Amino acid sequence: MAAYSFFLLLLIAPGILAAPTSALNVTELLENAGCSTVASLLQSTGVLETFLSSAHKGLTVFAPNDEAFKAPEVVWLLGKLSSAEKVSLLLYHAVPSYKPYRSLKVSKGPIPTLASNGTRKFELTTTATGDEVTIQTGAVASRITSTILDASPLVIFSVDAVLVPKEYSGPTGPAPQSPSPGPAGDSQAGGSSGRGSGIMLAAVLAVMASVFG
Ligand SMILES: *[C@@H]1O[C@H](CO)[C@@H](O)[C@H](O)[C@H]1NC(C)=O
Ligand SMILES: *[C@@H]1O[C@H](CO)[C@@H](O)[C@H](O)[C@H]1NC(C)=O
Repeated sequence: MAAYSFFLLLLIAPGILAAPTSALNVTELLENAGCSTVASLLQSTGVLETFLSSAHKGLTVFAPNDEAFKAPEVVWLLGKLSSAEKVSLLLYHAVPSYKPYRSLKVSKGPIPTLASNGTRKFELTTTATGDEVTIQTGAVASRITSTILDASPLVIFSVDAVLVPKEYSGPTGPAPQSPSPGPAGDSQAGGSSGRGSGIMLAAVLAVMASVFG
């Protein structure tokens, strides 16, 4: 009897996994995963539609959790960016290809995002420590905390810091170096007072990441 039910489940399961992307309510998925702020930003800016219309070609989304949007630097940045820049910031949170966790773990070199175009880089890199994957923007290190959805060609992860592109991290001059992930972030924050705001931002976010991580 039990074996029979298991067999039925196997027959049904592939159908569930193959549910078309259009049938998914991404807003609801994000809200249930503790990412309501980004869900509402994606909706109000229209970027959600961009995501959904390009999802069939492969899409990887990094959704910062609600805590990440409370960081004072992020609140400050969102207040300062124009509407077009906010759209770019959100587009920066998606990569135009399907990159499941196992692929991010071994990824090398810069990854273009939906915000990248001919003249603007807006790229990401990833680093892996053991089983943990961290997204590096060059200004911020953001750890992947869970997989919200993995249904090829769409994968959505939650991350613990807003991905601030290095292009937005400092008012002038060259972009700061990426902070080293892990507990070393503490000493970095201490040594960064009086330096560029980009470095401050990166250091504070790195500390936040290690506190909330
Ligand atoms: C998706 O879910 C959100 C939040 O639960 C809801 O407000 C919205 O109406 C839903 N959209 C569709 C198309 O069902
Ligand atoms: C790249 O994006 C920026 C900002 O949206 C825009 O000003 C620029 O013209 C774009 N460049 C290309 C080649 O599309």
